[in-house]
Amino acid sequence: MSDARVFLVTGPTGDMGGAVTARLAASGHRLMLAARNEARLKEIAESVDAADRIATVVADTTEPLRARQAVSETIDRFGRVDGLIHLVGGFHIGPVMLTDLDAYQRMYRANVLSAVAATQAVLPQLEEGGHLIFLSSVLATEPFPGFGAYAAAKAALQAWVKSLSHEVKGRGVHAHTVVMTMADTERAREQRPHMNFEQATKPSAVADVIDFLVGPGADGMYGATVPVLGKLEFTTTLMSAPPGAPRLDRL
Ligand SMILES: NC(=O)c1ccc[n+]([C@@H]2O[C@H](COP(=O)([O-])OP(=O)(O)OC[C@H]3O[C@@H](n4cnc5c(N)ncnc54)[C@H](OP(=O)(O)O)[C@@H]3O)[C@@H](O)[C@H]2O)c1
Repeated sequence: MSDARVFLVTGPTGDMGGAVTARLAASGHRLMLAARNEARLKEIAESVDAADRIATVVADTTEPLRARQAVSETIDRFGRVDGLIHLVGGFHIGPVMLTDLDAYQRMYRANVLSAVAATQAVLPQLEEGGHLIFLSSVLATEPFPGFGAYAAAKAALQAWVKSLSHEVKGRGVHAHTVVMTMADTERAREQRPHMNFEQATKPSAVADVIDFLVGPGADGMYGATVPVLGKLEFTTTLMSAPPGAPRLDRL
């Protein structure tokens, strides 16, 4: 039996969408791409050499009704749906005293409620099992200063996915979170020429891990939180070694 499946991909119009779409399509999966930005959706769909296996729907899937419509369109087009690859997210940076409550609400909506709406739309179709994949940030568990609103929302997402996983694994639904650092893109490199991009995450690396998680090799995994963090390092002045010991920062 073929392992090719049908996935609804929500929010593929950002930095990660091109790589994830290309990887899953290369594995033979059929994909319904759903987002609001019609031009970008078309661009991504056309960039993949598998036109008959990619369809698009212009929809804000953070709205429950539109999410359910996107699922219906997926089934109309491909006959079924086997899971969700949820790429919708939002980002905010700012210290506590310069971040108003609206920003917290926007982060919660984009990063948590969007996942809830898309999951509630797809889950009723997964009676014989399936896959739900979400993306988070290392900041959820190691929040740097100034990232509180974003980090709190991603931490909430990760807790929610764990709970979801316990709820649905009995019926063969695998719910996982892939955790990344900043995406290593041309745009990010131009904006931050000083940064060491060894510590960033290549979109293709995340795409490969997602492809593995929805494949047969990961059938035994439920509720995993999978870090794809490049060569991320944390440094602190507390790393200085006691007298006589080798310096930890020079190992
Ligand atoms: N890129 C990174 O450096 C990075 C780092 C860590 C984690 N992540 C996470 O990885 C995932 C994918 O990242 P990404 O950079 O490709 O995507 P993204 O820019 O965070 O979001 C993907 C898409 O979600 C839709 N979206 C955003 N806010 C929305 C809202 N309030 N309502 C409805 N739709 C909304 C937008 O699509 P439309 O406007 O077309 O609808 C957007 O193109 C996200 O969860 C992100 O938080 C990314």
